[in-house]
Amino acid sequence: MKHARRMGLALMMVIPALWSVHGADDAKGIPITEAEYRKLVKSTVDEITKTLAKTDAKSKQKARMAAIFLAAYAQHTTGGPGAAERATMRDAALKLAQTIAAGQIADAKKQASALLTLKADPNANTAPLSIMKVAKLKVDDLMHQFGPPARGGYGIEFRYKKLTGLGNKLPNETLDDEFLSSAYRVAMSFAILKNYKHEDDPDKFRKYVDDAYQATVDMIPEVRAQNGPRTAPLLYKLTIVCSRCHNDFR
Ligand code: HEC
Repeated sequence: MKHARRMGLALMMVIPALWSVHGADDAKGIPITEAEYRKLVKSTVDEITKTLAKTDAKSKQKARMAAIFLAAYAQHTTGGPGAAERATMRDAALKLAQTIAAGQIADAKKQASALLTLKADPNANTAPLSIMKVAKLKVDDLMHQFGPPARGGYGIEFRYKKLTGLGNKLPNETLDDEFLSSAYRVAMSFAILKNYKHEDDPDKFRKYVDDAYQATVDMIPEVRAQNGPRTAPLLYKLTIVCSRCHNDFR
């Protein structure tokens, strides 16, 4: 059943017209189905609720970032719910991120659970906004998520390194739900970074951001289809962009 669902999604994802996701922060976003959108919302709210139960600074930052990513999913994916519902979700999630940052945890818990039954506000502002600016993000806030769990990250850098080491022998089973959600996290990070102007060399930085975004967006349908041999070269391509940008900017 799970496999059939993935195959169904994979077939939908190969419709090329949907894949014209290029350029500026007005990028159309990653097409997903309504079911997948709801799943992302539910799993992110669960994560926020779970993380808010812990009181240390790392957990607070992780919960804040999860709320910001909920806003990014609402703004930077397409398909499923309409624009008003997405914009309402984005703004509520950004407000939640601020509440967490302000340390108002009891209020944050209430806001988080309300997200699951949020009704679309017909007057919501559906124009895209810079999540980077509104959420006062730094590049490191995004990159930190790719680091090891012991430091509050999701272990993405380590996992990608390990998997690219396997060359083309990337087992299909590796491309599980967790891998897919990490690919969304990476894609969203670069979608958000499209609004960032690096002070040393903004054009060069932006080119790396665009390349990393596109490489991740290209990889997602193969991950959904759990196709190891086709994911391997795309993952490799993505990690090359990671390294190039790090050589110049990290
Ligand atoms: C557009 C440039 C760019 C790209 C592309 C990029 N990074 Fe980074 N990364 C940076 C910069 C800049 C830093 C240093 C941030 C700081 O410390 O202020 C960094 C830092 C990191 C860190 C350390 C974060 C911490 O706080 O411990 C990790 C881990 C990381 N990147 C992983 C990745 C992975 C994995 C990819 C590819 C999927 C990637 N990065 C792609 C620019 C980039």
